[in-house]
Amino acid sequence: MPHQQPEPHHPPERLRLADLPEDPLELFAAWYRRAVAVAHLRYPNAMCLSTASPDGRPEGRFVIVHAWGEDGFLFLTDARSAKGRALAHLPYASLAVYWGAPLELQVRVEGGVEVAPEEDADRVFAQRPRRSQATPWASRQSEVTTLEALEASLAEVDRRFAGRDPLPRPPHWRAYRLLPETMEFWAARPRRLHDRFRYRRLAGGGWERVRLAP
Ligand SMILES: Cc1cc2nc3c(=O)[nH]c(=O)nc-3n(C[C@H](O)[C@H](O)[C@H](O)COP(=O)(O)O)c2cc1C
Repeated sequence: MPHQQPEPHHPPERLRLADLPEDPLELFAAWYRRAVAVAHLRYPNAMCLSTASPDGRPEGRFVIVHAWGEDGFLFLTDARSAKGRALAHLPYASLAVYWGAPLELQVRVEGGVEVAPEEDADRVFAQRPRRSQATPWASRQSEVTTLEALEASLAEVDRRFAGRDPLPRPPHWRAYRLLPETMEFWAARPRRLHDRFRYRRLAGGGWERVRLAP
């Protein structure tokens, strides 16, 4: 069934290249604050992480980005998962987020990925409720399984860690950080003449920024 696209009402005011901050992380932070304030999303920090599989095929899935800054964009996952294997093979990835109406903003981030320090993984894992800390011990992410096997594995973990709160972080549950080389910002505008800006990290420090055609 074809999707009936309602005619959108985009803000007419234009974003100007000269008015943008020199640092794209500053712009990301400003847009993220708007997403939190306006869009009322449960996970405004969920972003699509795309990697290349060892045989060169693109694979995308959402992850929670827990922090961003000079140290990159931080996410946690099972190192044994498809994305963990992909990143061990080719440590480059992209993150993309779209904050829908009424904002209609997209941000793309591309660059190299490295395993973040253990303390980062420990800190984020410690923020999970105790109940959810057991699951990554019991589940080998992306492996074919059955509900019975998963429940049995979780019960076994619950027995093993009975009385312990919080649980330690499983060693395979790692933090990774994507270090942006380029960041692209897209804002919907009337007549689909959207605003697009790309920042590229310069070798000598700082960022080059340009407008892109929509
Ligand atoms: C909103 C949302 C947030 C998610 N956050 C994470 C996350 O932070 N880490 C993670 O490993 N998987 C997360 N997932 C699950 C992944 O999208 C994916 O199903 C899983 O990591 C296996 O992917 P892979 O086999 O390609 O590695 C999330 C899914 C959704 C829908």
